[in-house]
Amino acid sequence: MTRKSRSVTAAAKGHRRFTQADVRAAVAGLRGSVSFQAPLGEYTSFKIGGPADVVVEPADIEDVCLVVQQARARKVPLFVVGGTNLLIRDGGIRGIVVSLVRLRAIKEEPGDVLYAEGGVGMPTLIGYAMKHSLAGLEWAAGIPGTVAGCVVMNAGTKLGEMKDAVKAVRMVNMKGQIVDLTADQIPFEYRRALLPRGIVVGVWLQLTQGVRSEIEKVVKDYLHYRRDTQPLAMPSAGCVFKNPPNDSAGRLIETVGLKGARVGDAEVSTKHANFMVNRGQARAADVIALIGKVRRAIRRRVGVRLDLELKIVGETARHE
Ligand code: EPU
Repeated sequence: MTRKSRSVTAAAKGHRRFTQADVRAAVAGLRGSVSFQAPLGEYTSFKIGGPADVVVEPADIEDVCLVVQQARARKVPLFVVGGTNLLIRDGGIRGIVVSLVRLRAIKEEPGDVLYAEGGVGMPTLIGYAMKHSLAGLEWAAGIPGTVAGCVVMNAGTKLGEMKDAVKAVRMVNMKGQIVDLTADQIPFEYRRALLPRGIVVGVWLQLTQGVRSEIEKVVKDYLHYRRDTQPLAMPSAGCVFKNPPNDSAGRLIETVGLKGARVGDAEVSTKHANFMVNRGQARAADVIALIGKVRRAIRRRVGVRLDLELKIVGETARHE
């Protein structure tokens, strides 16, 4: 399929039509990196995903504003790749994919507040908070995503969730302007924050003074618990399904005997059945087929409808 006919397909699906020249113009003049036809697997914890027309890693927040403004002028769609609860289909993503990996600044502000740029990884942030004896992020030990990704999906564990710590959020809106929102302006739900359209580029977290050794102990114990019960050493996208009310999706999947079930290199983890792992060369199509298999079995045998926590994006590959 040619680049032009792909754009036509996108137009037929309701997206505005754009050309390769539009894509080039939309990423012109950025100070960060720009890679055309870049495979997206390396940007996700699942290590799965087809190519993007272009991936940009803006150098800073001003660079994010620039790419948003230029993409809007050229009507090229933007997608922010956050990395953890994400499955990118094998056909990849048309338009511009933005990775915030270069937005990595963290600073301490008065009143036990930490400001982290959107691309800061949760493990880095937890390490920083621990070093400064700041408590309030221990619940997130073992979550591999970025702080922005965790805000957008209101990431959480049994010990807590993002909304408990967020004080304010800095976004670049669809016009390419910087906008700050306080936590009370953001409705947080189970595993999602109802944010206006745009890109989360920074987060203020309200933490509390704690005792370093005690914070470290909670983090360590929780990491141990997760390492013992979850396949943290293999590529995965975290939990695939939301927990049904008062139950655990992992427990249900185990009861129907699907631990270890496989399609291609995609496998229902033998350690925690709500994880699917990539044993090497898994394609998105394999994961999606496995999800279908699990859902059908749980529906038929337990009578429960499992909703996805995993976000599936992008286009199917041509041969599917
Ligand atoms: N269980 C099984 N078999 C399994 C998995 C779990 O029987 O394969 C049982 C466990 O023995 C336990 C119960 O199910 O009795 C609950 O399991 P677990 O403690 O692992 O918690 P979970 O409800 O399965 C939730 C979050 C996880 C988070 C853990 C620990 C969701 C959908 N899952 O899992 O979050 O790490 O608690 O706090 O909210 C994620 O969001 O990506 C994620 C992995």
